[in-house]
Amino acid sequence: MAHYAVRESPPLRGEIPISTSKNAVLPIMCGALLTREDVRIENPPNLTDVSTLSSLLEACGCRVRRETGALILTASGFKNPQDEEDVRKMRASVLVLGPLLARLHEARIPLPGGCAIGQRPIDQHLKGMSALGAKVHFDHGGVTLCGRLRGATIYLDMPSVGATENLLMAATLAEGTTRIENAAKEPEIVDLAAFLSSMGARISGAGTSTIVIEGVSSLHGTTWQPIADRIEAGTMACACAITGGELMLRGARADHLRSLLFKLSEAGVHIHDTPGGLMVLGRAKQPFEIRTMVYPGFPTDLQAPMMAVACKTPGTSVFLETIFENRFMHAAELSRLGAHIRVENRVAVVEGTPYLTGAPVTATDLRAGAALILAGLCAEGETLVNDADGHITRGYERIEEKLAGVGGLVRRVCMP
Ligand code: UD1
Repeated sequence: MAHYAVRESPPLRGEIPISTSKNAVLPIMCGALLTREDVRIENPPNLTDVSTLSSLLEACGCRVRRETGALILTASGFKNPQDEEDVRKMRASVLVLGPLLARLHEARIPLPGGCAIGQRPIDQHLKGMSALGAKVHFDHGGVTLCGRLRGATIYLDMPSVGATENLLMAATLAEGTTRIENAAKEPEIVDLAAFLSSMGARISGAGTSTIVIEGVSSLHGTTWQPIADRIEAGTMACACAITGGELMLRGARADHLRSLLFKLSEAGVHIHDTPGGLMVLGRAKQPFEIRTMVYPGFPTDLQAPMMAVACKTPGTSVFLETIFENRFMHAAELSRLGAHIRVENRVAVVEGTPYLTGAPVTATDLRAGAALILAGLCAEGETLVNDADGHITRGYERIEEKLAGVGGLVRRVCMP
């Protein structure tokens, strides 16, 4: 059972290498199912989400080889996943649907249930696949899609990241032209489109709200280095805003993090965009207001780390969560450290306090876990973050080593 023991730390100073993006790698791994040839992914992050998806792809008959600094996937012969539990373990495994349907003309997955941060339905994925000509059939807690895909115009009711990725992948091998309207614009979508284009797909408009895909008959292998993880970089920038100091976030891209950087600047943190990454200097001094939105709005995945910043920043900060209906569970845990937070439906109001004190707390989800580690950096005494469910290692590579490398007093402890 993993716990993180965190003590009040001096200002963080030094360099943190930012890992390859989890949310870019997962769809790209699923995209490897679209070709019979080798797909080589450079520098995949060492995360449990990546190993869980690797096992699922292996269970589908895809060969997965790990070399130093690379993951090589070969889907020359594959099938639908047989063990539904593999799919249920991770929400992102719904992204196998598009590639399976495109290549096998049949796909079946169990319906994902609710998760800690909300219901997370997949109706937009299914609506889009149905517009592409798939027949959709529900039975025994799962959904089966079948049929040869034909290009179509799809309007998404909301710009879902996963639905845009799934439909983009399915449409690469559909006959004719597909238009995805009200598409998500996240950098991970642009990266997926560039990856698919390097395999021979014909895609335009990724990064805008209309993506056009001209179907091709087959795709070929490729080598791809996915983008750096903007959420990890943003989390580390929040760590600096909490302790003060000077951090170089090696490989972080300012153009992927504009909304966070504006908010941190409003709070009095200095940010410099340099050729090697982002320099973050100083601590947050003024309160701020955050409304989570789809990209390029403020990312919901950085709402919890920013709430940790707000806990000790003088004045009243306000958070409005518009993407997920149940994403303030960290508020109750932060309150155990002495934070003053009131939550009313989708709004959280944080009154900054000069003193937080360490306590045992629980990571209720991935980003909540990171927020608790950050808060522990400025809480007197020891904060013990219980991550028995392994949320943090799903999405942060060696977070304790990276923070310790710049002076953070963080240790990962395994408990019986
Ligand atoms: C992705 C990210 C996740 C991030 C989220 C929002 C990955 C692996 N995960 O998740 O880290 O927090 O984007 O930026 O990239 N929705 C529907 N119907 C659908 C699909 C989505 O109602 O068919 C709703 C969801 O319940 C949620 C909202 O749309 O309220 C956003 O979901 P979506 O953009 O699809 O997020 P994910 O792709 O699951």
